[in-house]
Amino acid sequence: MSSSTVTQSWAAMEPKGKVVPFQLELPALGPNDVEVDIEYCGICHSDVHIIDKEWGDAASSFPKVAGHEIVGKVSRRGSEVKELQIGDRVGIGWYRRACLSCDECMEGYENLCPHGEATCFGASQGGFARKTIADARVAFPIPKEIPPEYAGPLFCGGITVFAPFRRFGVKPGDHVAVVGIGGLGHMALKFAKAFGCKVTAISSSADKVKEAKEYGASHFINSSDENQMKEAQGTIDFMLVTVPKKLPWQQYTALLRRNGKMAIVGAILGNVEVPVMTELMVRQLTICGSITGGRALIKDMLEFCALHQIFPKCEVTDVEHLNEALDKVRENKVRYRMVVKL
Ligand SMILES: NC(=O)c1ccc[n+]([C@@H]2O[C@H](COP(=O)([O-])OP(=O)(O)OC[C@H]3O[C@@H](n4cnc5c(N)ncnc54)[C@H](OP(=O)(O)O)[C@@H]3O)[C@@H](O)[C@H]2O)c1
Ligand SMILES: [Zn+2]
Ligand SMILES: [Zn+2]
Repeated sequence: MSSSTVTQSWAAMEPKGKVVPFQLELPALGPNDVEVDIEYCGICHSDVHIIDKEWGDAASSFPKVAGHEIVGKVSRRGSEVKELQIGDRVGIGWYRRACLSCDECMEGYENLCPHGEATCFGASQGGFARKTIADARVAFPIPKEIPPEYAGPLFCGGITVFAPFRRFGVKPGDHVAVVGIGGLGHMALKFAKAFGCKVTAISSSADKVKEAKEYGASHFINSSDENQMKEAQGTIDFMLVTVPKKLPWQQYTALLRRNGKMAIVGAILGNVEVPVMTELMVRQLTICGSITGGRALIKDMLEFCALHQIFPKCEVTDVEHLNEALDKVRENKVRYRMVVKL
């Protein structure tokens, strides 16, 4: 055990507020913890949801240091830490603790651990800071093939779109549609292509067509074009929805083929309304959700990305421009993931 440390961070002082320099007191280093000197932190749309208090009171306390796509080097180790050494480069994602002994953890769903701690949700303070503390067992060594400035977004956005392919048994040859080609969506296109799927991008931004095709889509649908949406009806085996707002759901379930699945990862409050008999039953559709991924899947994803050279397309900026970067995420102007250098 050791006493707490104060580190430089950047915090929003009120909902929707600009982030400003803030002296952050870190918790004491526990026996299984590492302290990490942060080098880079990706900006996920969830950071904006939290700063802007779009998920309600439980998610957002202020001052709020957001950021949960963290890359950095281990600077201190607790007495029980075995795997990680000082100087190791690690990544930390949506959760910085899991109990590792509950049913969820024992079954590989550390992401669902009821005793865990999310990195910047609620009272937790995240990675827009020079240092952070996390349980060493959820701080993942980064393969040397993955450049550190591109690694952060894999730890939230990447695993969030990698895990559903495994969980929902998507097969090579399946027709996959990715809805929303942003931070998560562009990584999903790359994974779907690498998994041998037929890939369609569905986007509200016509100017993303060229890049969507470079990332793996063979087909691009402009979601505001009714004819294009109609033509695709009944063709999609697996649809991954990454949009951070409510959609006209029936227009999207109509695109699913018999036995088709729609997995929603866009974190919206609200309901999905789809007729049961005339839509879900008669074509045996599945609507499901997914949240990040467990430790084993994160390790698999890192190996897969290293092997296939799958990295997010990042715009790296310095922390002095963090407010501009957050605004770009709010305005859907990022191509395709902002990363802040700390
Ligand atoms: N389930 C999980 O575990 C998990 C993990 C990480 C993030 N999330 C959530 O997933 C969602 C996407 O995150 P992200 O980081 O990929 O966000 P992002 O980079 O902002 O991308 C979202 C994309 O959705 C589309 N979009 C359509 N309407 C939009 C609107 N009104 N505002 C913004 N985008 C709009 C845009 O794609 P087009 O231009 O192609 O239409 C945009 O690029 C967020 O809700 C985030 O909180 C969930
Ligand atoms: Zn647990
Ligand atoms: Zn995230």
